[in-house]
Amino acid sequence: MARLLITGGAGFIGSHTCLVLLNAGHDLVIFDSFVNSSHFALERVAHLCGISSCEQNIRMKIIKGDIRDQVALKNLFTDATDEDRPIEAVIHFAGLKSVSESINNPMLYWDVNVNGSRCLISTMNKFACTTLVLSSSATLYGAPKSIPIAETASIQPINPYGKTKAAIEQMLSDLKGVNNNWRIASLRYFNPVGAHPTGHIGEDPLDTPHNLFPFLSQVALGKLKLLKVFGGDWPTPDGTCIRDYIHVMDLAEGHLYALDFLLGNSPEMIILNLGSGIGHSVLEVINSFKKTTGKDIPYEIVARRPGDASIAVADPSKAKEKLGWSTTRTLSEICQDGWNWQVTNPNGYSERIV
Ligand code: NAD
Ligand code: WQD
Repeated sequence: MARLLITGGAGFIGSHTCLVLLNAGHDLVIFDSFVNSSHFALERVAHLCGISSCEQNIRMKIIKGDIRDQVALKNLFTDATDEDRPIEAVIHFAGLKSVSESINNPMLYWDVNVNGSRCLISTMNKFACTTLVLSSSATLYGAPKSIPIAETASIQPINPYGKTKAAIEQMLSDLKGVNNNWRIASLRYFNPVGAHPTGHIGEDPLDTPHNLFPFLSQVALGKLKLLKVFGGDWPTPDGTCIRDYIHVMDLAEGHLYALDFLLGNSPEMIILNLGSGIGHSVLEVINSFKKTTGKDIPYEIVARRPGDASIAVADPSKAKEKLGWSTTRTLSEICQDGWNWQVTNPNGYSERIV
C-alpha cells in the first residue's frame, strides 16, 4: 500500500476519495488550505474508517497549507522522506471551481489553479515523485458538437475556470514530453453529486449554492423558496438541459482505479472522462428527487442561464476499457444519499455529529 499526498482532500470530492483510499489501505498526507472546506469533514472520514486519534498521524496526516506555497510543499515532501515514508503518488484536487467567480476574478483562478498546480508539479519533479491523478473537468469541452462526448472532442472552454483546467492538462502534457517517467491520469469529471450513504460527509457550499443539486436540496429543506429552472426551450425532449450526473462515491472509486492503473503499468499520460454515460434533464432530476424523498420542490421555468450547454453527457467507454471502472449508482441513489446528507446536516459541517 502506498503513501499518498492528497491536495484539497477536505473538499467535497476529496473527502469521499480519502475515505475510499483509506479503506483500500493507503496512508494519506492531506494538504488543504480549508478555504472552501472544513476540518470536520476529515474528522468524519476518520470516524467512518475507524481511525483512532492515535492512528491519525500515521494513516491520515493533515497539514494546512496553500499549494502556491513552495516552501510548505517542499517541507511536506522532505518530512515524508525523513519519516522514511516518502510520498509515492499525488491526487490533486486543490483548486477553485466556481464558474461565475472565475469570470469576475480570472487572475485568482489562473493563480490558484494554474500557478498552484505548477508549484505542486515542480516540487514533485524535484523529489522524483512522478505519479499524479488530476481533477480535470468536462467544462473544458465547452458547448460540445456531438453527444456523447469522447475525450477526443475539441477543447473549447468558454469561461476562465475551464481555461485553467485546459491549461493544467497542457502543462502536464508538455512536462511528459520531456520527462517520460511521469505517470499521469487527468480525470474529466462530469457533474459530481450525491453524498456518502451514511450522510456523514457530503457537499457543503459556503454560500447560496449555484449548482442544481445543492440548490434543490435546500429548496426541499425549506431553506430556499423556489428552484429556478434555467430554460424550458432547449432542444431536448422536455425542453430543459440534460447533464450526466455522477454519484460522488462512484467518482471517488474512479480515483482508486486510476491510481492502481498508473502504479501497475508503464509510465503514460491518460485522459479519461468520468461520467455515467446517462443523461438526465432538469425536470427528470426534480421528479426523481420528489419521488425518492417525498418532498415537494416548488419550481418555475425562467430564462436560460448564459454559458449553459443544452446537453453534456460523457462517453465513458475509455475509462471502462483502460481502468475497468464504470458507475454503478443510479439517479435515485444520488437523490436519496444527497437528501440524507442535507437533512442530517442542515447547516453542513457547522453542526458536529461525531
Ligand atoms: P471543493 O471546493 O469542495 O474542494 C477543493 C478543496 O481544495 C477544498 O478543500 C479547498 O479548501 C481546497 N483548496 C482550494 N484552494 C486551495 C489552495 N490554494 N491550496 C490548498 N487547498 C486549496 O471542490 P470539489 O468539488 O471537491 O472539487 C475538487 C476538484 O475537482 C477541483 O479541482 C475542481 O475544480 C474539480 N472539479 C469539480 C467538479 C464539481 O462539480 N464539484 C467538477 C469537475 C471538476
Ligand atoms: C446543471 C443543470 C443548469 C441550477 C457545473 C460547472 C462545471 C462543473 C460541474 C466543475 C444546468 C440547471 C442549475 C439552478 C437550474 N464543475 N440549473 N437551476 O453547469 O452543468 O456544471 O458543475 O468543474 O464546470 O459549470 O452544473 O449544477 O450548475 O447545472 O436549472 O438553480 O441544472 O442550467 O442545466 P453545470 P449545474
